[in-house]
Parts: sequence; structure tokens; C-alpha cells
Amino acid sequence: MESGFLLCFATFALLLPFFSFLAEAQGIGVNYGMKGDNLPSPSEVISLYKSRNITKLRLFFPDKEALDVLRGSGIGVILGAYNEDLPQLAENASFATSWVNESVIPYATSVEFRYIDIGNELIPGDSASYVLPAMRNVDAALRNAGVAIPVTTAVSTEVLDTSYPPSQGAFSDDVSQVLTDIVGFLSAKEAPLLVNVYPFFAYAGDPGEVRLDYALFTSGGVVVQDGSLGYSNLFDAMVDSVNAALERAGGGAVEVVVSETGWPSAGGDAGATVDNASTYINNLVKHVKSKAGTPRFPGKEPEVYLFAMFNEDLKPAGTERNFGMYYPDMSEVYHVSF
Ligand SMILES: *[C@@H]1O[C@H](CO)[C@@H](O)[C@H](O)[C@H]1NC(C)=O
Ligand SMILES: *[C@@H]1O[C@H](CO)[C@@H](O)[C@H](O)[C@H]1NC(C)=O
Ligand SMILES: *[C@@H]1O[C@H](CO)[C@@H](O)[C@H](O)[C@H]1NC(C)=O
Ligand SMILES: *[C@@H]1O[C@H](CO)[C@@H](O)[C@H](O)[C@H]1NC(C)=O
Repeated sequence: MESGFLLCFATFALLLPFFSFLAEAQGIGVNYGMKGDNLPSPSEVISLYKSRNITKLRLFFPDKEALDVLRGSGIGVILGAYNEDLPQLAENASFATSWVNESVIPYATSVEFRYIDIGNELIPGDSASYVLPAMRNVDAALRNAGVAIPVTTAVSTEVLDTSYPPSQGAFSDDVSQVLTDIVGFLSAKEAPLLVNVYPFFAYAGDPGEVRLDYALFTSGGVVVQDGSLGYSNLFDAMVDSVNAALERAGGGAVEVVVSETGWPSAGGDAGATVDNASTYINNLVKHVKSKAGTPRFPGKEPEVYLFAMFNEDLKPAGTERNFGMYYPDMSEVYHVSF
């Protein structure tokens, strides 16, 4: 009996890290955007995450109050840096060290950081060349402090020149060199690439050409046949076109984490209604929970962060202000079953 107990214990001890990794990786994340002058306090917001069983969150910058509330919460966190800090993070190693000293180290033992996101949608753009040097400086500062958190950056699907059919996905010429170097870094560090994936913008930009049911996961069958792979929703097609581009850039093993995806409930553009937003988000959540993966990687569902928790009134007028699942008073714009 004693040896049985020991064996049992040993098995449990071996499995424990595995299970805690699974627990950490499971579930849908939600972006916690703060561009509103009427939003609830971080402690009310984090309580709302907990009450809805939302297990992951993305912060766009190191908000000390939110990070304090996240201590011991078990919520997985993607931590971003201000885009404005990129030049200094890239050119001044001691600025990167003090950023890590102030924004990460004080929380490293109590907040479950998943990734540090250096730069949001800076490629293509004037600041694109700062991204990799800034990632390297932050990574070095973390390593020097003995903290192991993968460092990455977030791009939109604008980095693709070709995205149709998905197997032809390729980075455009103007970003190809920058991204190939970043992909090399991510490969070597086994870090994922964060990608903001918006079927909504594809639909709203060309509603005559892009089928709404394909964008909303309601087609009920294959819409795009790509060689042997059949696509019934645009989300999978967009993720796989990035997967194909990564492979072309020598990063076939680099994982895609969907750092943003969402659908506005108002604001004037084609498709921006509460019902369409609810359909998109709830079907997406079901898709992620089914762990179906994409046609290119069946069974390997990407980690996904919905955009966003709240409608944000300081964003540009129109659909941009209406991506929230909640109004600032914490009532639901539409219900999401997590
Ligand atoms: C959260 O998860 C717990 C445990 O799985 C469950 O009992 C509870 O009903 C869930 N709450 C919500 C709001 O989904
Ligand atoms: C580099 O960053 C450090 C730490 O923030 C700062 O004290 C120093 O002035 C910066 N150097 C330059 C040249 O900006
Ligand atoms: C960062 O923190 C370490 C450890 O406390 C300290 O030695 C170092 O001077 C700090 N560096 C900066 C640039 O703040
Ligand atoms: C979804 O968007 C389309 C296109 O704008 C619109 O015609 C339709 O009424 C919307 N559907 C719902 C259920 O809101």
C-alpha cells in the first residue's frame, strides 16, 4: 500500500506540471483596452473577468494598478509596451533594463505573464526597424534578471501581400526583411508571433465580394477550396495565410497567437450590428473551444484574445469605439458564453 501510494504520488508529481501548463493555456483571452474616460476601475474589471471565467487578458501597456490587481489571480497576461517607447527600448539598453525593472520584475512572481508584446502593429510603418532591436534589448534584460517570459510583437494581416488562397500567404516586399529577421528571433527563442485577425475588416472593406456567412462562421460548408484543404470560415483562412507566410519566411515552427479578433456592434460600417457581433464572437468562442484547429493545422487551435472587453469612447469615432462586449457601466452589449 505504501509503495502504491508512492507510485501514485510520483505519477501525480510528474503529471502536475503538464496539467498546470494545460490549465494555463486553456480558455479564451480578452483584450483589456483602456482608451475610455468612463471605464470601471481595474479591480472591478478584473473581478468581471473572474466572474466570467475569462482566463487570459492582454494589457496594451504596463498599467500598475491593473498589474497589482492581477497578482495571484491566475489570469494569464500578455503585457504590451507603449509604441512610443519603442525607439528608446531599441536604442538604449539601459532604458530597456529599467523598463523591465519597473514593469515586469515587481510582478514576475505573482502575475502569470504569458508574453511580452513589444510593438503593436508597427510593421509596416516608420517605426518598423525599431521592433527587433527593442525585442532583443527587452529579452536580454529579462534574461539578465533571470525571468523567462517570451518576447514578441503584434502585427496585423496588413503585413501580408498575398492571403488568397491561404496556402499562397506571403509577407509583402516592404516588410519581408524586417519580418524574416523577427521570425528568425522568434524561432530561436520558441516564441509565438502575435497576429491581429479581423474578418470584419475584410468583409466591411468589400461586402460585395466577401460573403457575410463566411466571415461569421455560418456558411455551413466549404466556401474556399485550397488544394486539398477546405475553408468554411474566413478566420481560419486568415490564420492559415499567416501560417503559410511564416513558413515561406523560414518560420514554419513559429506559432500564431491571435492577439486580437472582434466584430463591432455599431458605428456605421457594413455588418456592424449587435446581432452580427454576437454571432461572430459566440461562434468564434465555440470554434476555439472545439479545438478543431485550422485546416493547415487540424487539432492545433491557436490561443485567441477577443477584442475587446469594453466600448472605448476615446478611440476614433465610428466602429472603432464599438468593439466591446460590455458597455462602460459593465452591462453586456451582447452575451458571450465562455
Ligand atoms: C465558471 O467555471 C466554474 C467551474 O468550471 C463553473 O462552476 C461556473 O458556472 C462558471 N461560471 C460562468 C459564469 O461561466
Ligand atoms: C538611457 O536610459 C536611461 C535609463 O532610463 C536614461 O537614464 C538615459 O538618460 C538614457 N540615455 C539616453 C541617451 O537617452
Ligand atoms: C535594474 O535592477 C537591477 C537589480 O535591482 C539593478 O542592479 C540595476 O541597476 C537596474 N537597472 C536599471 C537601468 O534600472
Ligand atoms: C448583419 O450585417 C448585414 C450587412 O450589413 C445586415 O444586412 C444584416 O441585417 C446584419 N444581420 C443582423 C442579424 O444584424
